[in-house]
Amino acid sequence: MANILVTGSNGQLGSEIRELASKTVGLTFTFTDIKELDITSPEALSKFVKDKNFRYLINCAAYTNVDKAEEDKDTARLINATAVKNLAQLSIDNNIIPIHISTDYVFSGEGFKPYTENESTDPQGIYGKTKFEGEELLRNICQKHIIIRTSWLYSPFGKNFLKTMLNLGRDKTELGVIVDQIGTPTYAHDLAFSILKIIENIDKNKDFKDYGTYHYSNEGVCSWFDFASEIQIAANNNCKINTIESKDFECLAKRPYYSVLNKSKIKHIFDLDIPHWRVRISHCINRIIS
Ligand SMILES: NC(=O)c1ccc[n+]([C@@H]2O[C@H](COP(=O)([O-])OP(=O)(O)OC[C@H]3O[C@@H](n4cnc5c(N)ncnc54)[C@H](OP(=O)(O)O)[C@@H]3O)[C@@H](O)[C@H]2O)c1
Repeated sequence: MANILVTGSNGQLGSEIRELASKTVGLTFTFTDIKELDITSPEALSKFVKDKNFRYLINCAAYTNVDKAEEDKDTARLINATAVKNLAQLSIDNNIIPIHISTDYVFSGEGFKPYTENESTDPQGIYGKTKFEGEELLRNICQKHIIIRTSWLYSPFGKNFLKTMLNLGRDKTELGVIVDQIGTPTYAHDLAFSILKIIENIDKNKDFKDYGTYHYSNEGVCSWFDFASEIQIAANNNCKINTIESKDFECLAKRPYYSVLNKSKIKHIFDLDIPHWRVRISHCINRIIS
């Protein structure tokens, strides 16, 4: 039975894995967040895993505040890069396979077709830069790893675009939402499900060799405007969504204009069936409402 350590498990993705874990047979989970296990401390990590025989580590911990990272570079680097180096070393020392989550922000956002895993990276802000540094540290230290880059994560947990739009749409009659940034939303529930499927896949294939970097989001392409409009429809909100341009919406960190991820590799290697972003909004809203 695969024994799995989850770090940063009180966040969006970690919470979704926790929910699925209770319905999953054949996998054993230990859920931790910074209070139980601070991934920036190599000593705490070694002490925690000692004699526990973990086979997999899912790292959901990260510094995810993209704007704040611009002013708090050191903390962002400590959590997104240095701590990932700690996890890489821990994995080597304890024969653990790390599954680490990264981001579409490693790309410049100036592309015009879905990014494959081999395409050159060029992160534009501190968040993307430190996440890429974390990826590189993991690749260099621990050969048997899985890195999953994802985008526009939402869930019933924590703060995210869907929850913000849902609440604003209830209170307001009109809203302006950015139309010139294109990407794909990812329902954290679907990503969590796929991560568990990936572990099951690796676990039952003793000759598994396809370690490395993968891309995952829901299927399809949209702007934040499209996403916000669908949220209002799914929620039956009577709020008109108007378009605004990125230049009219000031924020500290530069956002990619185009960050659609090509998912051919992950679908092929792990035989995943990925739902379209449009059909998953109601599922999340129903969970929030109930
Ligand atoms: N959110 C997105 O739109 C998005 C998009 C693309 C990729 N990703 C990536 O997807 C992954 C999951 O994102 P998410 O949205 O689920 O993140 P999240 O909700 O921000 O959760 C991250 C969790 O990590 C915890 N954490 C922070 N520092 C830690 C430490 N030193 N040790 C242990 N835990 C620590 C956080 O605690 P505190 O809350 O107390 O800090 C939080 O519970 C991340 O790698 C992120 O970079 C996210």
